[in-house]
Amino acid sequence: MKNIKIKVPATVANLVCGFDILGMAIHQPYDEMELKILEEPEVIIRHTDDFNLPEEASKNVAGVVLQKMIEELNLKNGFEVIIHKNIKPGSGLGSSAASAAGAAFGANRLLGNNLSKNELVHFAMFGEELASGVRHADNIAPIIYGGISLVKSSHPIDIIPLNSPDLFTVAVHPQVEVKTSDARQILKKNILLKDAVEQWGNIAGLIAGIEKNDFSLIGRSLNDIIVEPVRSILIPQFDTIKTKSLKLGALGGGISGSGPSIFMLTEKEETAYKIAQMMESVYHQIDIESFVYVSKINPTGIEIIEEN
Ligand code: HSE
Repeated sequence: MKNIKIKVPATVANLVCGFDILGMAIHQPYDEMELKILEEPEVIIRHTDDFNLPEEASKNVAGVVLQKMIEELNLKNGFEVIIHKNIKPGSGLGSSAASAAGAAFGANRLLGNNLSKNELVHFAMFGEELASGVRHADNIAPIIYGGISLVKSSHPIDIIPLNSPDLFTVAVHPQVEVKTSDARQILKKNILLKDAVEQWGNIAGLIAGIEKNDFSLIGRSLNDIIVEPVRSILIPQFDTIKTKSLKLGALGGGISGSGPSIFMLTEKEETAYKIAQMMESVYHQIDIESFVYVSKINPTGIEIIEEN
């Protein structure tokens, strides 16, 4: 096999209370990536989008992943990658993770599919390190595994794929910039034991709810008392959107990844669309452009469009 074209989904990291340890793949938006195997161990990156991302391999998240694979696996071949990016960088919807995970997945298929999913996560995390300064796996894991993933540990990598409840997600991306590195820097370095205990209860409740398809428990557990109160001040109208979404019937939700996107989970598609309309109108009223995506949880993660 010499060529592969793949569809790489956006992701919602943290799932409110699971900072750096939970992530979920969704269907919309998604990137497409084409990878071709080369005779020489070099990496060529091309973007067809207008995001002005660096194409120099050592400065591109897909590029560093492939360079790391060539180095660690002692490869004699290289790769050319064309990235059609739709997941806007800096959206909080896992744009860098999509490029990184797509590169690792595609290259592995071209090399004969010998790497495990955890090895793909290992390589893809080098892309996250370039993008945010930290090798976190909560966006990467659900792209590779599909559905919802628990990152029990990223050093060593221990990923637990969870159940994918039959729920809808609605995510709004207001056009304001929040850099992941900034959104990490403002977090408190120490937390009180009583706050940790409350957060542990929410994380455990959320995972139990996901596994048992207990939607009420999921809703009751989507509370973050540690990260959200600090980060939400970076996102215009966060409290308004959250309060109105809950009134319209959302189970719960919060910041997607490090923001500025906000996501909600709903049982019914109709509720998701009502919330989507409300989100757009809240931002329209303050002259902030926004993009809204409604989709089910994506149980598959990366999909192969064609390979030959
Ligand atoms: N867990 C990471 C964070 C996700 O919240 O900083 C960043 O996309």
